[in-house]
Amino acid sequence: MSMALLEVDDVVVRFGGVTAVNRASFTADRGVITGLIGPNGAGKTTCFNVITGLQKPTKGRVRYRDRDVTSWPVHRRARHGVGRTFQRLEAFGSLSVRDNVRVAHEIHGGPLTWLGGRRGVLGVDVLLDRVGIAEYADERADSIPTGTARLLELARCLASDPQLLLLDEPSSGLDETETGAFGALLVDLAAEGCSILMVEHDMDLVMSVCHDIHVLDFGEIIASGAPADIRTDAGVQRAYLGYAEGDGDTTTMQAVAEEVSPA
Ligand SMILES: Nc1ncnc2c1ncn2[C@@H]1O[C@H](COP(=O)(O)OP(=O)(O)O)[C@@H](O)[C@H]1O
Ligand SMILES: [Mg+2]
Repeated sequence: MSMALLEVDDVVVRFGGVTAVNRASFTADRGVITGLIGPNGAGKTTCFNVITGLQKPTKGRVRYRDRDVTSWPVHRRARHGVGRTFQRLEAFGSLSVRDNVRVAHEIHGGPLTWLGGRRGVLGVDVLLDRVGIAEYADERADSIPTGTARLLELARCLASDPQLLLLDEPSSGLDETETGAFGALLVDLAAEGCSILMVEHDMDLVMSVCHDIHVLDFGEIIASGAPADIRTDAGVQRAYLGYAEGDGDTTTMQAVAEEVSPA
């Protein structure tokens, strides 16, 4: 059995003349947080789509729990524990926060592994509390602040009891305090055995919670390693001029990318 929970192997995705992902290989291990970073347009979301089955790769394989899932449809991967949140918020606006999570939980039907195996409405309320949005439980989802909506996305995803949680820019819209609490929650979930693969621009968050980081640039993996290695990698520093100079501040990949290549 392979150590890795997820293996992306030599994946290529072409959209007409655009090569969005170019021979990318990387892994995500069990029970840790893995970061997938890179500037806008690097191919991160496309990689997520390949992993979840929304995008068929032009070439390459995806292995999950030692099975080749490349040809599996989205729902089959989801049933086997591949859960994701979207960069764009996806909640049902007219439903309450609690009902949004209930719907996700009832579709899944099983116990909530990451919440001590609880089920039903009690489990949903524990989940809302755990994610830090219990005070919004009765509010309509379209009336809550963006940061809260992000956390609702996470709660909805957790309600489906994922083994592998894919988070696409989960901290956007969160303030500094919320981001800190969010990072702590991810660390707790990973410690309980949940495996997390995260696309994220907030480098402080990435560097503080990730066990491993893969860096995409123009569709290619240019570096893979522990945060300390990625931070000091010459190729990564070349790709993100400026980040290395802003040691310790909340420089985001997005800000750096805009600095490097102004729109
Ligand atoms: N459905 C699509 N059709 C055509 N081009 C796409 C499509 N999705 C993404 N792209 C292109 O692929 C590249 C990678 O996009 P994406 O994976 O969204 O990057 P990231 O998430 O790292 O910002 C970009 O050049 C983007 O314009
Ligand atoms: Mg993206």
